[in-house]
Amino acid sequence: MEFKNKIKISPSILSADYAALREDIEKVKIAGADMLHVDVMDGHFVPNISIGPPVVKSIRKSTDMVLDCHLMISDPYDYIDAFAKSGADLIAFHVESNSNIGETIEKIKSTGVLPALVVKPKTPAEAVFPYLKDIVMVLVMTVEPGFGGQSFMEDMLPKIKAIREEASKTNPSLMIQVDGGIVPETAKLCIDAGADVLVSGSYIFGAENITEAVNSLR
Ligand code: DX5
Ligand code: ZN
Repeated sequence: MEFKNKIKISPSILSADYAALREDIEKVKIAGADMLHVDVMDGHFVPNISIGPPVVKSIRKSTDMVLDCHLMISDPYDYIDAFAKSGADLIAFHVESNSNIGETIEKIKSTGVLPALVVKPKTPAEAVFPYLKDIVMVLVMTVEPGFGGQSFMEDMLPKIKAIREEASKTNPSLMIQVDGGIVPETAKLCIDAGADVLVSGSYIFGAENITEAVNSLR
């Protein structure tokens, strides 16, 4: 997958208006966002419920943006086919989930979707090291997953650095995504630590000028 920007922005539709999703997606596309971050929550892995494959399918029909699906669900393996068929381009699942990590990565690849792994704040960087060569992206959560609008956890910066350093040996093209509390100040800290994909929900969708908000993060 080729992107024109070195620092890629992936607006999280968790903070969009789900009843006006087409318009909201159009706004971030016009603003120059590189992907669209789709938060999937099952009310079990995280204490919140969001959306599932039927909504991803509808989004797929209404945009050609890269769909970056963040699965906050207990058993991601069981739902890979459903999300792949719905039109996901990239699927990120948690190392803390119940699914076998290697098998789930293989399953994602077999559907032609790009695989990524996610680490919650309390999970150390080393948890993803064995898989770096098999995935295209690591998502470092910079808040506890479940809700938009939380404050950035600055103590996640060393984790980003550690993953970037390890990836320089095993997978130099690995993307590192950050998610949670991303605003211009925290975006800069993450970029300096080695992140190159920034998820942002409340900051982008809450902005009066969405194009300015997207540009202010890069
Ligand atoms: C939280 C989600 C995030 C969330 C980020 O569990 O994974 O993607 O939408 O929201 P902000 O940018 O508002 O912290
Ligand atoms: Zn997310």
